[in-house]
Amino acid sequence: MNKTLLQIKNLTKSFGGLVAVNDLSFSVEEKSIHALIGPNGSGKTTTLNMIAGELIPDSGSVLYQDQDLVKSKPHLISRMGLSRTFQNIRLFSGMTALENIMIGIHRNYPSHIVDFIVNISKAKKEELIIKEKAIEILNFLGLYRIKDEKVENLAYGNQKVLELGRALISNPKLILLDEPAAGLNPSERADFVNLLKQINNNGITLLLIEHNMDVVMDISNTITVLNFGKKIAEAGPKEIQNDDSVIDAYLGSSYRKKKEQGEVDA
Ligand SMILES: Nc1ncnc2c1ncn2[C@@H]1O[C@H](COP(=O)(O)OP(=O)(O)OP(=O)(O)O)[C@@H](O)[C@H]1O
Ligand SMILES: [Mg+2]
Repeated sequence: MNKTLLQIKNLTKSFGGLVAVNDLSFSVEEKSIHALIGPNGSGKTTTLNMIAGELIPDSGSVLYQDQDLVKSKPHLISRMGLSRTFQNIRLFSGMTALENIMIGIHRNYPSHIVDFIVNISKAKKEELIIKEKAIEILNFLGLYRIKDEKVENLAYGNQKVLELGRALISNPKLILLDEPAAGLNPSERADFVNLLKQINNNGITLLLIEHNMDVVMDISNTITVLNFGKKIAEAGPKEIQNDDSVIDAYLGSSYRKKKEQGEVDA
């Protein structure tokens, strides 16, 4: 039995009158792949932002290796081994694929130190170490050949994979992924799933938000389902696919029909 790496306890966040996340508790086991699913607006990204330190909850706690992250700054959280990708791609246009991976290290440092990555004349040694690591990551991702391309010229699928690369450079223990496979075609999705599995096999825990059920059901050990900010179910893929409350709130009757016709793995 693995031990708990991340424990969310009674997390609540409101925006005005809207309770986006409502008394949410769940635990992520070390070295697992844990998915957070639910309808649009159910509070998934808000939850991730609270874990990453980008939003302060109204109440509740986020325990990571038994340390409360609430009110910790994002770059300190990153330095503790927790990195993330964003729902909307946040690459730096005008910079190459390689530079965008290298810049991922900045979440480990206060922002003024980012200068040392950009300005090669300073801190050359650190820059070379980071560059070597970034090239290793580009090789792993199958993107070495496009390392010198400006990111705005890259295909969307490559940009999504690069986001993952940027999360890898800080040697994370846990990566938070917000819809990493959104907009990928089926073959790109299959490649992406393979990358996630390899990353996980290397001992990195993944907490991912995803709407592609083929991805979620294929790779997740545990799935937590949100609806209107509340947890409505939590189990492994098989159980979740057969849970009436999840089908009613999210998966929909068409999913049930497909499953009955054998088009979805049950
Ligand atoms: N900064 C904000 N200010 C006001 N309301 C917000 C803010 N961020 C999120 N919300 C609202 O909180 C609710 C939860 O949003 P959230 O982005 O967490 O949903 P989500 O589950 O990630 O949805 P999606 O699947 O569409 O990405 C939504 O109703 C959203 O409009
Ligand atoms: Mg979201």
